Amino acid sequence: MYRSHTCGELRESHINQKISLSGWVHKTRDKGFVVWVDLRDRYGITQLVFDEDRTSSKLLEQARSLGREFVVQVRGEVIERASKNPNIPTGSIEVLVEDLVVLNTSKTPPFTIENETDGGEDIRMKYRYLDIRRNPVKDSLIFRSKVSMEVRKYLSDQGFIEVETPYLIKSTPEGARDFVVPSRMNEGQFYALPQSPQTFKQLLMVGGLDKYFQIVKCFRDEDLRADRQPEFTQIDCEMAFVEQEDILAAFEGLTKHLLKEIKQIEITSFPRITYDDAMKKYGNDKPDIRFGMEFGELNTVAQHKNFNVFNQAELVVGIAVPGANSYTRKEIDALTNWVKRPQVGALGMVYCRCNDDGSYKSSVDKFYSQEDLAQWAAVTGAKPGDLICVLSGDTNKVRAQLSALRMELADRLGLRNPEEFSPLWVVDFPLLELDEETGHYHAMHHPFTSPKPGQLALLDTDPGAVRANAYDLVLNGNEIGGGSIRIHDAATQSTMFKHLGFTPEEAKAQFGFLMDAFQYGAPPHGGIAFGLDRLVAILGGQETIRDFIAFPKNNSGRDVMIDAPAPIDEAQLKELNLKLNL
Ligand code: AMO
Repeated sequence: MYRSHTCGELRESHINQKISLSGWVHKTRDKGFVVWVDLRDRYGITQLVFDEDRTSSKLLEQARSLGREFVVQVRGEVIERASKNPNIPTGSIEVLVEDLVVLNTSKTPPFTIENETDGGEDIRMKYRYLDIRRNPVKDSLIFRSKVSMEVRKYLSDQGFIEVETPYLIKSTPEGARDFVVPSRMNEGQFYALPQSPQTFKQLLMVGGLDKYFQIVKCFRDEDLRADRQPEFTQIDCEMAFVEQEDILAAFEGLTKHLLKEIKQIEITSFPRITYDDAMKKYGNDKPDIRFGMEFGELNTVAQHKNFNVFNQAELVVGIAVPGANSYTRKEIDALTNWVKRPQVGALGMVYCRCNDDGSYKSSVDKFYSQEDLAQWAAVTGAKPGDLICVLSGDTNKVRAQLSALRMELADRLGLRNPEEFSPLWVVDFPLLELDEETGHYHAMHHPFTSPKPGQLALLDTDPGAVRANAYDLVLNGNEIGGGSIRIHDAATQSTMFKHLGFTPEEAKAQFGFLMDAFQYGAPPHGGIAFGLDRLVAILGGQETIRDFIAFPKNNSGRDVMIDAPAPIDEAQLKELNLKLNL
């Protein structure tokens, strides 16, 4: 038996017991007459003691020869510690070692296995298995496991059936590029890895399974960011005989359950906002509503006053920053430079101080009276002590810029408390989105999303105005889930494909299987998928998903530990009938 207890388990109640432990040498301290070794495993750290009085000289020598991260097994007696460490659960005891076996040696690790390590991101990724020994990473993975278990428990209690769908499939478009896999047995042909199990889950509804879920890997070849990985995990669900309300209710239930079980937080309010309102009020379709600073559109009160910048703008829009009247001129200039950075792209920023005495002082006082500025304050909801920041320009661009500023200011003002959770449904998304470069419409969610009832005809006359039965769940400014009610009849689905620019032949070649299935009694259905990595990271109080993934890829999509992707050898290429043209 390698161990009778774990390294996190022993307490004063175990004193005088003979025990055995196995683990990694975390640290040794040699005071000459006594050697202490901190032994670590997944569960904690236990102090081992070897001393001249009670330990044989051979054993003491053995203890002295231990290096960091050696794997050892010890047997000994639990004794009371002379100087207790209240900071760790095992801090009242230590183990007087009677026997020590080195199970394996270790090279000196390239970074310290501590909560705060000296290792940079690259080196930690290369030696991820060592990084996982550190508490923050280990705890994140344990946390993720706990969330996954709760998801499974909740959904299966609600009657959902977990079904696995294949990974070697044909393209399921979700707006990214596919990862493809060449087929050896079918020369010149390729599988695509699923961007999501979308079409399969719809076929399961045709198959009558009624309530499906799967915790499933998805693959998307897209540019990476803090909240995106090329392979990531979805909590994917689909239900038959449901309307949008049924799905929102089911997944409010799941979100409430998780917040309660994982964070001990009871959420009572699940507000909803339409996509159009979200864009108008927050400039963003995933607004963080833990704080205010809602947009105030100022066109009617700020235009036609001789200030040409505003007069020429499509949209003049501002936010009231609470308490920021105290910003110095230098701080405001820095903020102006911040919005002018290429990543944000504003041409400039107009500001107005709302003084405590009720007067106003703006950067454009030449053009605006105190009464004008009072109207700005009324529209943006500014109070004495606040600072109004105003941007202007093309509607879409200026909304995105002000949204970036709103988030930045909220961060600076400490308004984004990671322990506060504010979910929000964003509903009534546009069905189609215009690609400015190609001039073509593409599905905003995916091509299987149904238009709102009665709006199908609008597709011919004003496609951009058609709204979809599509919804996103936003948590603390992050899109954690998205779904829709689907089209379930072949005729509507063909019309959609036509509007998305597919010829009937192309639609048949790519999605014929789905349209065929729709001819055999497809029930009305809809669903949603949550991003598990994002959900776990946000519940864990963070926005970067990498630390919640055991073996993540870096920003260039590489796994630096196994060094993938990598070339394959000639023989393998030949077998696949592939020729590289580099
Ligand atoms: P969607 O594309 O909105 O919907 O994806 C659902 C959720 O998955 C997460 N997500 C990601 N997480 C990490 N890295 C990525 N690259 C990544 N891409 C997406 C997000 C997102 O909200 N089939 C539909 C769902 C449906 O209609 O039922 C779908 O995949 O949190």
